[in-house]
Amino acid sequence: MSADIDLFEAMNTQRAIRYLKPDPVPDEMITRLIDAATRAPSGTNQQRWSFIVVRDSELRGKLGDIYQKAGRAAIPRLQYVEAENKRLFNSAVYLVDHLGEAPVLILACIEHGGSTTLTTGASIYPAVQNILLAARAMDLGSVLTTFHKAYEDEVKNLLGIPDNVETAALLPVGFLAEGVSYGPIKRRSVDEVLHLDRW
Ligand SMILES: Cc1cc2nc3c(=O)[nH]c(=O)nc-3n(C[C@H](O)[C@H](O)[C@H](O)COP(=O)(O)O)c2cc1C
Repeated sequence: MSADIDLFEAMNTQRAIRYLKPDPVPDEMITRLIDAATRAPSGTNQQRWSFIVVRDSELRGKLGDIYQKAGRAAIPRLQYVEAENKRLFNSAVYLVDHLGEAPVLILACIEHGGSTTLTTGASIYPAVQNILLAARAMDLGSVLTTFHKAYEDEVKNLLGIPDNVETAALLPVGFLAEGVSYGPIKRRSVDEVLHLDRW
């Protein structure tokens, strides 16, 4: 396991990693990811999150199939991404066909009282970001994905998820494939997004 890295270095280099080795990930590393998730804030500290760690190869295969079905349907709508960022497009397309091969899939879920809103999401996505940052710190690769949401019911049936729980993100986790590395990310500048006092 690598030494802990500076928080800002982690934030500045935490790329979406979609090319992963199939090698198993030690239990302690996965526990550390989930532990990081549980450090996140949530509305009134309710912590209504659950994290399903899927290692079983048959279940990973089935989740991979659902992701593939949803991803293949979504790809034609992503032509603008292909035009703007071919590398991102190609890696997203790659993952559509290979998600189930990641040694670990983490499904982040949130319990709700009947329906969900943006605020419900605000009580689970900080936890997901903590998983991504913790993965970065341990040199594990991952990426937040949501294509599976098009077939939410199938995912819930497969894993026995109760009605009052919604899936928020499906994260493949594994060691980085040969030739893949963490590194600088491209984001809009502070100047572009900062408003002082008023919009
Ligand atoms: C709400 C949300 C949904 C996403 N869904 C997917 C997805 O279904 N499949 C995928 O490959 N990437 C997905 N991503 C990953 C984004 O494409 C990625 O975070 C973004 O391109 C930035 O990548 P970078 O950190 O490598 O610059 C999603 C990210 C977010 C925040």
